[in-house]
Amino acid sequence: MKMKRLVGPHIESLKPYVPGKPLEELERELGIKNPIKLASNENPLGPSPKAMEAMQAFMEKNHFYPDGAAHNMIQAVAAFHDVDPAQVITGNGSNELLTMAVRTFGDYGSDVAVISEYSFAAYAIVSQAQNLEIRRVPMAEGYTFDLEAMADAVDERTKIVFVANPNNPTGTYVPAEALRAFLKAVPEEVVVLVDEAYHDYVTADDYQSAMEMRDLRERLIVTRTLSKCYGLAGVRAGYAVAPAEMVNRMNRLREPFNCNSMAQVALPAALDDQEFVARSVAVNEEGRRVLEEGLARLADRGVSWIPSQTNFLLVGLPVEGGKVYDAMLQKGVIVRPMGGYGLAKWLRISLADKEKMDRCLRALESALDEVQAEVTI
Ligand SMILES: Cc1ncc(COP(=O)(O)O)c(C=O)c1O
Repeated sequence: MKMKRLVGPHIESLKPYVPGKPLEELERELGIKNPIKLASNENPLGPSPKAMEAMQAFMEKNHFYPDGAAHNMIQAVAAFHDVDPAQVITGNGSNELLTMAVRTFGDYGSDVAVISEYSFAAYAIVSQAQNLEIRRVPMAEGYTFDLEAMADAVDERTKIVFVANPNNPTGTYVPAEALRAFLKAVPEEVVVLVDEAYHDYVTADDYQSAMEMRDLRERLIVTRTLSKCYGLAGVRAGYAVAPAEMVNRMNRLREPFNCNSMAQVALPAALDDQEFVARSVAVNEEGRRVLEEGLARLADRGVSWIPSQTNFLLVGLPVEGGKVYDAMLQKGVIVRPMGGYGLAKWLRISLADKEKMDRCLRALESALDEVQAEVTI
């Protein structure tokens, strides 16, 4: 008898998410002392001090299971956004909420997910894992979401559409008016998920959070994370605001203790630490200025970047990004190669303080020297 297949073709062909290389790995593998990591858009200031204090105070209660209902987290998010607690769900990072949304609302094997080209890799991974068909929509000029084309790509089989605002890895954003038009244009039976992981960094005047557009359509999920501007990536805390009916359905699939106790005490304290958010944004702006000035000096060597509203820049190169990435690793600077996104001649570089940006620029320039010398030989 023929052996039953181990997994379906959608799992067999699934390429798992490749995270940024951890600092410890570089130290261990290459023996490099004092490496810096600019690969995962983490906060260079560390965690929110108020969140750290709350976690330290809670430490000795870690023998208890977490609150399965994550009551304090949910109350804090509800108060922060002035919504009903029934409209809030929290996750082990916002990534878990993306998975939960697809698993809850996507019918296995029959529905379609509409996803933009060059948007966050997790959307396609979680959709493929649920055996949804993925419909990818090309970007508009300037590596921005083509929301009109995305709305046009929606058909009767479409169940979910993902919009990252601002987007990773391009750093670009959708202006308020275009997002409003899109939310109105997409048929009401479709779930629109607006991922606002980088919301806190946005400075553009014509940006508006989808949190303020929830009256435009019923089936709207807005996700946020504390991994970036609040400096809590290791704690894993994210949340979503959606209609109570949708939160209720997502809760049916939620793991009993999906938010750990550290996340549960850290989130309320972090949301209350807006002074830290302001400081993080200021450091980010300074990092952007330093990196952009340095990159501009390399323009005659074929280096460019895309204007960003986030805490990273997508940097265009005259040579293959993977080679420059490898050469920068040898100098103790971890950035993110973009080949997996189909952006072979690009690197994504997280913004940080001036010292790190200067070190990154020095590493980039000499890596370019090495790779270009190799190419011309
Ligand atoms: C656009 C976007 N959404 C979601 C996430 C997931 O973040 P987390 O699971 O840490 O909340 C990331 C992380 O890089 C991201 O870039």
